This record gives sequence, structure tokens and C-alpha cells, in this order.
Amino acid sequence: MVQTAVDPRDKADLLRREAELRFGVAPGSVRVVRSPYRVCPLGAHIDHQLGPVTSMALDRGVLLAYAPSPTREIRVESLEFDGPVRFRLDDVPHRAGDWGDIPRGVAVALGGRGRLDRGLVGLVTGKLHGGGVSSSAAVGVTISLALQEVNGLSLGPDATIELGRQVENEYLGLSNGILDQAAVVVSRRGRLTLTDCRTSQHERISPAPSSPPFKILLVFSGLTRPLVGTDYNRRVAECAEAASVLLAAVGRTVARPVLGELSTAEYETFRHLLRGAPARRAAHFFSEVDRVRRGVSSWRNGDLAGFGHLVTASGESSIRNYECGNPPLIDLFQSLVETDGVYGARFSGAGFRGCCVALVDPDAAADAAEHVAFEHVRRYPDLAEFASAVVCDTGDGAGFLDPPTHHNGRNGHGAPL
Ligand code: GLA
Repeated sequence: MVQTAVDPRDKADLLRREAELRFGVAPGSVRVVRSPYRVCPLGAHIDHQLGPVTSMALDRGVLLAYAPSPTREIRVESLEFDGPVRFRLDDVPHRAGDWGDIPRGVAVALGGRGRLDRGLVGLVTGKLHGGGVSSSAAVGVTISLALQEVNGLSLGPDATIELGRQVENEYLGLSNGILDQAAVVVSRRGRLTLTDCRTSQHERISPAPSSPPFKILLVFSGLTRPLVGTDYNRRVAECAEAASVLLAAVGRTVARPVLGELSTAEYETFRHLLRGAPARRAAHFFSEVDRVRRGVSSWRNGDLAGFGHLVTASGESSIRNYECGNPPLIDLFQSLVETDGVYGARFSGAGFRGCCVALVDPDAAADAAEHVAFEHVRRYPDLAEFASAVVCDTGDGAGFLDPPTHHNGRNGHGAPL
């Protein structure tokens, strides 16, 4: 149940050869692009309200082996999901509710930025059971970079992030923010990425040299379910409701009411006007903004214990004020928090399904993984099939494993972006 790492370069070589066989393309014409999974230690559920968020890319992720197609057709297959996904760039089908929505959404969004002359054939691999580490953003970014490259486009990090947001908001119908794309595009090994979702500015912060080492422990609950079918969008609407009340009270009109349009002082002055769910969502937002601020300072000072406490407090606020989670996930969170060697833990991602993340002392990580996973499966035997624990390190943002030597003679990318 506790998974171990496979060297991504070995995996990439196997994937490249499999793609050559499946698509009958010439050896040497297949490129590989990778995109990491991500975690968000602090700043949960506030990206869509234009708050500040922190993230780290993991040393695990998605690989796409691809080659340009002579036609304007996209044909992608996955080693893990049913396929193939096949469509023409000039006639992209509507959302179908399967993993093919990601390449379809990318093709629509990228097509909206200029003519795409070439399609591609591609083979994707990468799946951590049950979500929470943003595998959809990771897949989307690999397809986006590959499609940009075969068409001689190089949007760069900011526009690639924005394109990812467009895919999620406009094609997939999820009202989320830029956390996932920002994390997988700009992160660097060992650093904490701080993203201001209002300005789309990112800072990659090294820990103080005195900071103790840590591992990232992911424990998947075994619950699987796509985000679009959860209460995610309703929570976003409740935040907007709170923002509208507060903005009316301060007498400000904005194009889109989000809590990030208000200062903490304004919130403190008018919070008594809020009731029920909007009041709790606002309490989460403003307390989380404060935790991000304090957490970044703990990180800079090498105070991992202080950082971890804030992560756990963020997890508690997600349960109490943001009201996400479910009994197995909440039990998993409690169990992690009580385990030796854990600096801090919380739900990973949206917290409606999936997984919990913890920062752990490297010497205690393997035992913590065994212990928490064992207890979880004992308590929830029905979830055992898809439950698992993984100990990871931080990793780099998305990039080409072998910088492409111009599929079309016009473009090249370094790795990572
Ligand atoms: C999901 C969304 C992100 C973010 C997180 C919660 O991963 O895709 O935009 O809102 O949940 O922090």
C-alpha cells in the first residue's frame, strides 16, 4: 500500500518507445514533457477569491510522450484511462465528462489564441489514486506545452497558467482559481511558491539554511469523485455572497465580487453583517490570508514546526469554516496530526474527496505512512482498494525532459519553463 518512486527518466524512455509503437511514428521523433503534481500547504480555498496561496510541486507527476501530427487531428491515449481521445482541431467536441475533456479544453483555449496548424499524437501516463494533487492541471499543462511546441508557439509561464484557468473555468465548468496551474508551472525543487492570485505574481522562496529537512506524505483516502460534481462551485458562490455584502457596506463597486477585494480591517468592521454560510466562508478566507502571511515568515526563518502548526490550523478551518471534507478524510486528517514526526497536515486540494498531505520528519516518514494507512484501511475497509500512502519530495515545475530541437523549426523550450 505504501508506494515507492520510479525514476521519471526510465518511465519516460518506456513511454517514448510505447508511443512510437502505438502511433507508428519514427524513433527519435517523440518528445516527452512532464508536469508535476502539487500540494498547497497554506492558502486553501482562497485562490478563486484572489487571495495569496502557497504551493510546492512534487517529484511525481504526469508524462506525455508526443509527436506532431501531419494533420490537424489530436489523438491522445492514456496508460491508465480509457481512450483513445480523438478529435479535429477545427471541430472540438463539447465536454463529455471524461479525461478527454482536458485535451479538448486545451485545444479550445489555445485555438482561441491563434490558429493551430498541427495536431499531435500523444501517450500520457500518471495517476495518483483519487485526486487532491491536481492531476488534471498536470495533464492539461503537458498537453498545452506539447500543442504549443508543435505549433511553434511559446506562450511562457504566465499565459500558460492563464490558459489553464480558462480550460477549468470555461470548458470544464469549475469556478476555481489559478493555484493548480501556478504550482505546476512555476515551482522549483525545495522552494515554497507564493502566488498572489490577484496580480498573478509568484515568488519562489528558499527555506532558511537552518530549516530542518522534511518529506511530503500523501495519504489517499480511497474516495474518488470529480470536482465538478461536488459542492466546490457552491462554496465559491457563498464566498461571492459574503464579498457582495461587505463591498456594499464599504460602498465599493467592482466587476466581480470576491473576498480579495476587501482588506482585513474592512472585514473586521463589517463582519457582523454576515450570517450563516457566507459568514463562515469569510472567516475562513481572512484567517487563511493571515496564516499564509505568518507561514511564509516561518518558512523564511526556518521554523518548520511553526509552519506545520499553521498548516494544521488551516486544515481545521477547512473543516469548521469552509465545511469541506467527509468522515473518512476528516479521520485521516486527525490521525495524521496525531502521528509522531508530523509537522502539520491538512486536506490536499479541494478537500471534498481524495487525499491528505502532511509535512513529516524524514526519519519518521516511512513509519508514519505505514501507520496512518493501516489505521485508515482498518477503519474503512470498503475504501481499501484505492487507498494508498506515498512519501515524496518537492520537485520542479513542468518542462520538456529533452529540450525539443524544433519539431517545426520555429521554437524551443528549456526545462523547466
Ligand atoms: C482545487 C482547485 C484549486 C483550489 C483548491 C483548494 O484544487 O482546483 O483552484 O481552489 O482546490 O485550495
